[in-house]
Amino acid sequence: MTASVDLRRLTTPQDLFQAAAEEVIRVATDSIAQRGRFTIALSGGSTPRNLYTLIAANAGASVPWDKVFFFWSDERHVPLDDPDSNYLMAKETLLSKLPIPPANIFPVPAGNKDAEAVAEAYEQTIRNLFALKPTEVPRFDLILLGMGPDGHTASLFPETPALEEKSRLVTANWVEKLKTSRITFTLPLLNAARYVVFLVSGTDKAAVLREVLEGDAPPEKYPSKLVRPSNGKLIWFVDRAAASQLTTA
Ligand code: 6PG
Repeated sequence: MTASVDLRRLTTPQDLFQAAAEEVIRVATDSIAQRGRFTIALSGGSTPRNLYTLIAANAGASVPWDKVFFFWSDERHVPLDDPDSNYLMAKETLLSKLPIPPANIFPVPAGNKDAEAVAEAYEQTIRNLFALKPTEVPRFDLILLGMGPDGHTASLFPETPALEEKSRLVTANWVEKLKTSRITFTLPLLNAARYVVFLVSGTDKAAVLREVLEGDAPPEKYPSKLVRPSNGKLIWFVDRAAASQLTTA
């Protein structure tokens, strides 16, 4: 892992979510001040639920939400009202609780049975918002990521085809061990971001966090190691339980 990693070690999960919420609000405020808007890609799974709840409870008045544009760094290949949907989780914990114009929310159209078509449509949605030339890669202001116990992030699972994608922004990734396709940002899109923020909490992530931050295994085995913004900041928010196997002080 490159030395430029900003590792923020918190004690309890609540401290972690509080610190991460403050960072998201800070980046949002700076982005809006500098560029008139804040583009964020939310992560899914269970860890960010508490972060979203905290932001919804505390930041209602501190951010001009009409200048914030929401995307997802990955999504399950399920309808938006499916209990597994990352969109549904964010809608319930965050989006439904803040004055966000619906036009600012860009769910992955994951209800379409054709996963490749979903990925292509979502890539076009992103390109449209950023209004870039076909060869340019959009720079999200902030991309939130979690990490699974196998070192996956977004839906970039170990030794899956999406890890090799060098030009697409979004792709459908078949995950054999889950027997399902996932829709995911690719590494070119992740690594173009101004800020990439990992949230890692709990003892079950301790071994893989040591591997990712300190180990020398091939990055394809721990895809979180492949997230290294080329011209952006990488911040890891970890709690004491997740950091319990790190050797660095
Ligand atoms: C997803 C996520 C995924 C998640 C990790 C960690 O769609 O599940 O985007 O990458 O961040 O699996 O999940 P937990 O936070 O639930 O441990």
